[in-house]
Amino acid sequence: MRAHPASAADPSQEPSGRYRRPATEAILLVGGKGTRLRPLTVHTPKPMIPAAGVPFLTHQLARARAAGVEHVVMATSYLAEVFEPHFGDGSALGLHLEYVTETEPLGTGGALRNVAHRLRSAPDEPVLVFNGDILTGLDIPALVATHRSSGADVSLHLTRVEDPRAFGLVPTDPDGRVTAFLEKPQTPEQIVTDQVNAGAYVFTRSVLDAIPAGRPVSVERETFPGLLAEGAHLQGMVDSTYWLDLGTPQAFVRGSADLVLGTAPSPAVPGRRGERLVLAGARVAEDAKLSGGTCVGAGAVIGPGARIEGSTILAGAVVEADAVVRDSLVGQGAHVGPRCVLQGAVIGDGAVVGADNEFLHGARVWCEARIPAAAVRFSPDE
Ligand code: GDD
Ligand code: MG
Repeated sequence: MRAHPASAADPSQEPSGRYRRPATEAILLVGGKGTRLRPLTVHTPKPMIPAAGVPFLTHQLARARAAGVEHVVMATSYLAEVFEPHFGDGSALGLHLEYVTETEPLGTGGALRNVAHRLRSAPDEPVLVFNGDILTGLDIPALVATHRSSGADVSLHLTRVEDPRAFGLVPTDPDGRVTAFLEKPQTPEQIVTDQVNAGAYVFTRSVLDAIPAGRPVSVERETFPGLLAEGAHLQGMVDSTYWLDLGTPQAFVRGSADLVLGTAPSPAVPGRRGERLVLAGARVAEDAKLSGGTCVGAGAVIGPGARIEGSTILAGAVVEADAVVRDSLVGQGAHVGPRCVLQGAVIGDGAVVGADNEFLHGARVWCEARIPAAAVRFSPDE
């Protein structure tokens, strides 16, 4: 007889490992329009934009695989046609991937219901769900273990943020049970916690099957509040691991740099972690300086004297001599002229920026735009 029976609330203490069995199925929500990331998302859906040299989704799929997931259903909508040609049946990642495309966007909950028939899990088994734009060190098996040990209907990964207004607020009681779900709070009174929905869930499969079919449903605005009103058990798991929603250009560039640096975990970074990652086929001038987790994509060219810090230069882009690029993203095939200064800027795919331009503080240049060279600035005494 055991002197100290394991606590159900602490699955790591559970000696038989009963709660540590992985969830083998996941749904990835990858159908959003990525509006805040435009112009990066004009030709490419958000999860397919390269971060640290591979489409962002690769990192999420690799982490799911490492956590024991075998079967993933992708819920696609916007630019749905680009996912399957890249990932195919998933065998390169050791996964079985399936794709389901909505004819009209069904929202996060509608998308889940729309793919539920592809799941193989029994009604009482756990199914993982991931938002397709989250970079995190979440301990996926721990979330599944929390779900199993608490007997919840849905378990949610929660994280603490300084400004929760852009997220779903999820207050919990002392046992971690969710007491409310407030998506994108509008008034100061609604900001009752700094715990937010981190975009990874475990659903008991039957709960997914019960979402209404054939119409748009928001899991955040309808499903979660509805479940709480019915007395369902929603369990939160708060942690302080790395977490970033890559929904804005600044966040995307940060996330990619953190993957290159090794601050953000992923088994899918194609190279050694460090100050820079230069993909095969890129050409970098000998005296160019790349630092802060900069990634240079295949076929890109970096000219002499260029300084690039914490930035993502996508495939086939050109950054000419003596340009300074910080915390910025240069899109596929874009061209940044000599001596340009980019700071927190986004240059869309195929854009051409002439010499001596400055783009600072969130400036965005649209895809294929042509920006002439800046007029030469004379110093006052000339
Ligand atoms: N298939 C499909 N269909 N997917 C969709 C749809 C749709 O109609 N709408 C959105 N998605 C996908 C997006 O591609 C993304 O992966 C995920 O659902 C979440 O959508 P976002 O647009 O990124 O939402 P958000 O960032 O404003 O808020 C969500 O994430 C936060 C955490 O980052 C919410 O879940 C918040 O509660 C949460 O805090
Ligand atoms: Mg998001």
